[in-house]
Amino acid sequence: MKFLCSLLLIAFIAIHPCANGESYPLIPLPVKIVEGNSSFRLDSSVTIFAPVAFGNEVSMFTTYLQKQYGFSLKMVNGKSVEKQIYIRQVKNFAQGVYTLRIDLNGILINAGDGAGVLYAFETLKQLAPPAKMYPLKIPGVEIEDAPRFIYRGMHLDVSRHFYSKEIVKQYLDWMLMYKMNFFHWHLTDDQGWRIEIKKYPLLTKIGGWRKGTLVGHYGGQPEVYDSIPYGGFYTQDDIRDIVRYATERHITVIPEIEMPGHVMALLAAYPNLACTSGPFETGKTWGVYKDVLCPKEEAFSFLENVLSEVSELFPGPYIHIGGDEVPKDRWKASAFCQQFMKEKGMKDESELQYYFTNRIVSFLKTKNKIGIGWDEILNDSLDPAAVVMSWRGYRGGTDAAVKGHDVIMAPASHVYFDMYQSRNTAGSLAIGGYLPIQQVYRFDPIPDVLNAEQAKHILGAQGNVWTEYITTPERMQEMIFPRMAALAEDLWTPKEKKNFEEFANRISYHFKYLYFLKLKYSLALFEILPRVSPNGSDALFIELSSSYTKAEIRYTENGSDPLPSSAIYTKKIPVTQSMGIRAAMFDNGIQLGDEYNEVFRINKATGKEITLVNPPHPEFKTGGAFSLVNGTAGRLPWLENEWLGFYNTDLNATIDFGITTDVTRVTIDMLNDPEGNIHFPSSVTVLISDDGKEWKKVGLLPNEKMNPLDRQIRLDIPLCKARYINIIAKTNGGFLMADEISVD
Ligand code: ACM
Repeated sequence: MKFLCSLLLIAFIAIHPCANGESYPLIPLPVKIVEGNSSFRLDSSVTIFAPVAFGNEVSMFTTYLQKQYGFSLKMVNGKSVEKQIYIRQVKNFAQGVYTLRIDLNGILINAGDGAGVLYAFETLKQLAPPAKMYPLKIPGVEIEDAPRFIYRGMHLDVSRHFYSKEIVKQYLDWMLMYKMNFFHWHLTDDQGWRIEIKKYPLLTKIGGWRKGTLVGHYGGQPEVYDSIPYGGFYTQDDIRDIVRYATERHITVIPEIEMPGHVMALLAAYPNLACTSGPFETGKTWGVYKDVLCPKEEAFSFLENVLSEVSELFPGPYIHIGGDEVPKDRWKASAFCQQFMKEKGMKDESELQYYFTNRIVSFLKTKNKIGIGWDEILNDSLDPAAVVMSWRGYRGGTDAAVKGHDVIMAPASHVYFDMYQSRNTAGSLAIGGYLPIQQVYRFDPIPDVLNAEQAKHILGAQGNVWTEYITTPERMQEMIFPRMAALAEDLWTPKEKKNFEEFANRISYHFKYLYFLKLKYSLALFEILPRVSPNGSDALFIELSSSYTKAEIRYTENGSDPLPSSAIYTKKIPVTQSMGIRAAMFDNGIQLGDEYNEVFRINKATGKEITLVNPPHPEFKTGGAFSLVNGTAGRLPWLENEWLGFYNTDLNATIDFGITTDVTRVTIDMLNDPEGNIHFPSSVTVLISDDGKEWKKVGLLPNEKMNPLDRQIRLDIPLCKARYINIIAKTNGGFLMADEISVD
């Protein structure tokens, strides 16, 4: 590998990513890098000069050197004759902008503000060797750098699982490492109220604790709870300490106080603020609770008092007021709400939520704060000052920008770091979904449909870290690294400079830095990405690839072969009979990521042409109709491209065998999970045809004959011959979820 790099270096010295990745493993990629031809020796004889205003930034850097390498630098008051790191303030540089020049004689940093100085130091830290050594050889370079977006954020949910002040501070350090500058702190939710409010001590005394927690996955059957009291909160002194720590790192903290939904912890403490009499308890499970705040004067004055204290604690311009997932059941049933709506001329409960939001946003203005809400708050009458945070895809943010609101993008499809990042979900619990690093890297906060004027409203974006299933700091690290690095690049690096293949190469070097900092990170980047395709009458082809292209894939069709000495994958593998395939990536004999291990079950339908009468639901269709005949079972927890979902509509599939074929059995792999609104069909009918026009019914299975605990529905039919087979699984309301149809 190294040898190859050297060879390529000679050929492509300035542009080849191999050179960049190894010598300059910088994330996010700077705007401009010019390679130098010398290097600088950083040792304790080097002095450092900075304008007085940057004393904090310099001391953070020297503290880092001491901690990681065991030596420090001397501060001097002016230009010294010795080797020096020299920091110069350039008045007209915008926030966070910096230049960094490193050569044999020293290091020069130009920056307009402390953020720029810190970002230059972060770059310098990534250029230093990721191993304890002395002196440090820093490669020569000239860098010009500036952020693409002014809002580069990370969110952390401390309600579902509580993270101590020390962990939150580490989180802020990680944000700074990637030049991120807004910390969205999700402080309240159903499962715990985590911020001390002096006027309402029960919020933390009662709402800060729950009596137990769901074990395993939400929606599981049966639901199991532990009975271990769980909780914690931040005192106002803790909050001030964290805000100070963040401010030193040029990070603005945005507290989130959820309302009017996600308030079980609040209602457990102050049940008088609900529309019904309770009693309520702090949530032990996840999801959305029907109990919400009642829009009574009493509730508004309570919230104003809370927000007054919150405004005092957080010097930043924004306060997030939630607004997502607000069921209207209690408002519909409340005489007070209905009378109130009548008096105000509101036509439905959504208008009541709009009123609620605007009242709070107006109140925040009296505190010089800007209210942010999740995209559910968007409507035509929304206070123009409100900022919209788009989480249900791009749509809310796009509409909000068109209406002239400032927007922060956080679409679940690209930046929800609580989802799985690997295809290998075995043994690990996450909320679900599949968000690999490639998808995060593909993210562009600016929707294509916006014109330049509208696009100015997109302040930037953030990654969201919901912690229902993230229960330890180590797991948190694995979930955010390296996806946060990809997001950092989406937010910092000019769009035209982004290139996933080159990024993947740089990340593989960046892992050494994460390792040096003792951080845990996912190796999903090195996983095998299989693509299964039809192979005519010979069933299937399997193509193996990986996002990381600088190492080889080795594979075997034999379950017991040692992979390191197995064949190197070069072309797609035909699969004509049932068999398993194992594969992994190797670099010089060292396995880089998890092993891929898939069993293909070939039957008469596998790889055959399949057509659907009704389209699947847009969210459960990524694998297309072919996923029903691709020879592989869908996985649980699921990876979306292995499942097809039909919402309130039949699964009606026709398979063309190509030639007349004997048929005696049809098996459909399906899910039955009534809690998740996934049901077995009301019936399954099988029809056959020789010409695709005239059909004969050969099988019918009513719902009563299906075993609800099974993962399969099987129809044995009298032996018949057919070219075409039509299978109709009738909807039973809600979702039909199918992953495979087999014909024997
Ligand atoms: C959200 O994920 N409910 C904002």
